Amino acid sequence: MQVISIYNLKGGVGKTSSCVNFAYMAAKDGFNTLIWDLDPQGAASFYYKAKPKHKSATKKLVKQSMELDDAIRATDYYHLDIIPADISSRKIDLILDDAKKSKKQLKRILKDLSSDYDFVFIDSPPAFSLLADNIFNASDMVFMPVIPTTLSIRAFQLVREYFEKHGIPDEKLMCFFTMADMRKSIHNEVMAELYKNNKFFEYYIPNLSEVEKMGIHLAPLEVFAPSSYANTCYRALWGEIKEGLLD
Ligand SMILES: Nc1ncnc2c1ncn2[C@@H]1O[C@H](COP(=O)(O)OP(=O)(O)O)[C@@H](O)[C@H]1O
Ligand SMILES: [Mg+2]
Repeated sequence: MQVISIYNLKGGVGKTSSCVNFAYMAAKDGFNTLIWDLDPQGAASFYYKAKPKHKSATKKLVKQSMELDDAIRATDYYHLDIIPADISSRKIDLILDDAKKSKKQLKRILKDLSSDYDFVFIDSPPAFSLLADNIFNASDMVFMPVIPTTLSIRAFQLVREYFEKHGIPDEKLMCFFTMADMRKSIHNEVMAELYKNNKFFEYYIPNLSEVEKMGIHLAPLEVFAPSSYANTCYRALWGEIKEGLLD
């Protein structure tokens, strides 16, 4: 089992859209896949039309008063399950803070699943937090979507510094560009600059309205727009990512 999280310090950069599409593509490739929606806003759960089984599932999982199996729901799709976001995850930092080994709780919880799934995709809220520490520790890989703007360079550097300061291996972090608009010179310049380091996948996701339509169709691109350019881009990027994961 490989745990993959989609993370950025910033919000609105395409974390959830990417998580929802990658997880679907992994399942379609035949891998047993789980999405854990750890963003209390619950956007990934919304896209998969998934409601939590219990109001306080996240809290109970951390407090070990609930089995992980009881929190997992099936999606409408083969090979793809989800742990939906629930209200208690809003307070997850406080709950984690009470726990022993508070930075390794998520890793401990996920251990129970190691024979059930090939991939676990975690959709994260933006911020450095105890939850983020848990996500970094539990993840084999952290994938960071980056919009190619000047401010994103700073966010990218801050995340790298955070990894270094907290002893999280740099190899765990890989990035990809989202919402790229090649008509804008700033996007071209930022991409050229950031491609110089080896932290970015070659394929990227342009700014395309099809991605936004996931919110209307409540489904991943592969389901409602399989031959769209947006889906072609996500498929190419997933192919590149998968190659690294299966290496
Ligand atoms: N490649 C894209 N092109 C155009 N709009 C996008 C793209 N990726 C995401 N969006 C839109 O941008 C907004 C934020 O995306 P989302 O995936 O929810 O980001 P995050 O999870 O980082 O907050 C959403 O309205 C989404 O539909
Ligand atoms: Mg999100």
